[in-house]
Amino acid sequence: MLRHLMTAMFTTKLLFTPTAIIMSALLRDIETAANEKLDQPLRDYLNRGAMDDLTLRANREAFSRLRIRPRYMVDVSHRDLTVQVLGHTIRAPICVSPFGLNTAVHSNAELDTAKDQFGTIMAVSSGSRVTLEDIAGAEPSLHKWMQLFIYRDREVTRDLALRAQASGYKALLLTVDMPVLGLRYHNQKNNFTNADNRVNYEPYGAGARVADNATWADVAWLKAQVDIPLVIKGILTAEDARLAVDSGADAILVSNHGGRQLDSAPATLEALPEIVAEVGRECEVYLDGGVRSGADVFKALALGARAVFVGRPVCWGLVHSGSEGVKSVLEILYTELDNIMTITGCPTVASITPSHN
Ligand SMILES: *[C@@H]1O[C@H](CO)[C@@H](O)[C@H](O)[C@H]1NC(C)=O
Ligand SMILES: *[C@@H]1O[C@H](CO)[C@@H](O)[C@H](O)[C@H]1NC(C)=O
Repeated sequence: MLRHLMTAMFTTKLLFTPTAIIMSALLRDIETAANEKLDQPLRDYLNRGAMDDLTLRANREAFSRLRIRPRYMVDVSHRDLTVQVLGHTIRAPICVSPFGLNTAVHSNAELDTAKDQFGTIMAVSSGSRVTLEDIAGAEPSLHKWMQLFIYRDREVTRDLALRAQASGYKALLLTVDMPVLGLRYHNQKNNFTNADNRVNYEPYGAGARVADNATWADVAWLKAQVDIPLVIKGILTAEDARLAVDSGADAILVSNHGGRQLDSAPATLEALPEIVAEVGRECEVYLDGGVRSGADVFKALALGARAVFVGRPVCWGLVHSGSEGVKSVLEILYTELDNIMTITGCPTVASITPSHN
């Protein structure tokens, strides 16, 4: 008994050794500290959504409403959080969402995120201040996906896709939920502009505007241009998931753009089950939007997501302490997921099932 108690105390003490101080802080603390460093326009740009923030809040509420059904008396002494995403094994089912203009909140955002001391997949935004080639050159071992859109000039799309493939990006992440920017009134009120994040588009001129006449035919066309997998980001319905897969998509990222596009769009956790039911046997399905804890990761996995992506938490980490902060955020989510898996009787990611929700 005494030995057990001492072991517990020793473990607790270990958590608070100096190098682990940031890691033992909750994600909420990093969020608060980061936001205190930002002025109002940047806080709004980072944290808020479109119009009335209905979908922004819905993402969080959906996670909060869902409960976890734990199973006990399972041997959880050895746990394995690794998962394969498009054939690539990562430490845990926690990846990094693309975040356009994250250099507004942290000057070295792309390259600090790309240091990836955690060991995951980073989706690089096309709206960055460093070219996709420079990110690849700085961090050649990083497992990168390239986010892009269908542009008015389809040759721009093709050229960007080929540049990403040539630079070692392992997949394209095509955003389909932005035929036009969502109405983000706070940015207008704050005079917030995004002038200098178009470095990837410099060779192209006016054709490099996001198209509002793109269709699924463009997805099939883009798929035929490249050899790397094509992941579709922004799917919220079974109908579109079906069309995406039939157009050649290799995987689907269920996303509502962090609530920044269509206000009143469903929470991603609400949309996930119908999409998994429709295409889950044919392709991998991921989720982003509102993931703030290991319990959230667990809930999404239980509903059929292969992995989750996080956007704002990575930005809070960046603002808090650069690449160290990014690592801390991902380690917190890892530690929490490991803890939840242990208490729910799930020693592996594959053992997390719908019966746990
Ligand atoms: C889409 O619109 C652009 C102009 O914005 C035009 O140049 C292009 O030809 C159109 N493409 C298709 C497939 O309709
Ligand atoms: C935004 O710009 C307008 C026009 O230049 C100005 O009147 C207004 O005060 C500015 N608002 C903020 C919050 O800076």
